[in-house]
Amino acid sequence: MFVNASLCMFPSVIDPQRFRDVMSSFPSGVVILTAFGEDGQPRGLTVSAFCAVSMTPPLALACIDKTSNTLPAVQLTGGFTANILAAGREELARRMATKLTSKFEAVTWRRPSSPIGGPIFENDTSAYAVCALKDTIEAGDHWILIGLVTEGDHRESTKPMIYSRRLYDAIEPGP
Ligand SMILES: Cc1cc2nc3c(=O)[nH]c(=O)nc-3n(C[C@H](O)[C@H](O)[C@H](O)COP(=O)(O)O)c2cc1C
Repeated sequence: MFVNASLCMFPSVIDPQRFRDVMSSFPSGVVILTAFGEDGQPRGLTVSAFCAVSMTPPLALACIDKTSNTLPAVQLTGGFTANILAAGREELARRMATKLTSKFEAVTWRRPSSPIGGPIFENDTSAYAVCALKDTIEAGDHWILIGLVTEGDHRESTKPMIYSRRLYDAIEPGP
């Protein structure tokens, strides 16, 4: 049983900066979400809002700003690739977080085996998942993209990147 939040009265919402500070204290990985545009050229952006949703069927979600230049490519092709960055790829994460049309220059990628999904960054990832777009849910100034994972792989020996409190890091081995 869920309460419909729109029926409740909220006196106020959290201050935006405090909201950012709270959410940045929840560590995440870093994903480069990619798709091919109508011109056949790669599009992509850096995303921290990515997680698993369901095992059966295998679903994952990403939250994308409505102003993203990558969104039309995802809608057009009906899919995307989630490239889970390896530790040490800060420069790539920063580059893909810009609006530069040239951001794919000097980046090595390959096509997935299916036409769904975007470029796979094999040399810079600890894992990747190719997703067929199953649902899009409007949520404030973002879209929640729910993808059915059709293809993927991981490299056990490659540490994933961690993003926490606006800093890039890596998982350290325990004591
Ligand atoms: C570490 C990091 C995480 C980010 N996470 C997200 C995210 O989850 N969703 C999002 O829409 N933008 C996120 N961004 C911002 C986008 O990467 C940025 O707005 C990008 O320029 C959008 O590119 P595009 O318009 O070419 O798609 C993040 C940026 C950084 C540096």
